[in-house]
Amino acid sequence: MKFFIDTANLDDIQKAYKMGILSGVTTNPSLVVKEGVKFEDRIEEILKAVPEVESVSAEVTPDAVTAEQMIAEANELIKINGGDKNITIKLPMTLAGLEACRYLTKKGVKTNVTLIFTVNQALLAARAGATYVSPFLGRLDDISEDGVQLVAKIAELFRVANLDTQIIAASVRHPDHVTRVALAGAHISTIPYSVIEQLSKHPLTDQGLDKFAKDWAKSVK
Ligand code: E4P
Repeated sequence: MKFFIDTANLDDIQKAYKMGILSGVTTNPSLVVKEGVKFEDRIEEILKAVPEVESVSAEVTPDAVTAEQMIAEANELIKINGGDKNITIKLPMTLAGLEACRYLTKKGVKTNVTLIFTVNQALLAARAGATYVSPFLGRLDDISEDGVQLVAKIAELFRVANLDTQIIAASVRHPDHVTRVALAGAHISTIPYSVIEQLSKHPLTDQGLDKFAKDWAKSVK
């Protein structure tokens, strides 16, 4: 399973990129607003900051409701950074979003259909040609449903139906989510920087480092 980072914060993106673990970036309107920056400018900064990834998702704005409006916004987004090949248009899971997905796919633009909460939604998006689908597991867990189970079912369906759409497990809240979606067959997990940090940690690693440092202090100099 690959890692994307789920943020519009440039520092966090750069830190994760330097670690060498990053295959992509996902953003959404809430994440961009949180940064207090102009949407297109931040997408350009992100594209420049992570040249060696496969995808940077930029979502059409909530103002775009019809397929035509989504396509018009997408046509501007794909020009950013000189028509960067990594730009991926994130579209909502609506009938208009599916229509826009089909249109953009035919034009060779990468797409990520977001706000997926059922297997049927994922199947529709895959059939519309989506490069990626984003099931939101944390938000399902929040309403006492099983988000990991949804990812597992979508993965099974895509295998059985031989669909090459990649699953981005999204709305990931903690390391256990990451392990479980990896085992469930997600191709990608998009996670906040705080979760990347948590993944790298274990108390015994810290204790081990502490012991090595204390022993080393007694070494023959
Ligand atoms: C995915 O692409 C979304 O940006 C994100 O994972 C949503 O997560 P949240 O439920 O924590 O807002």
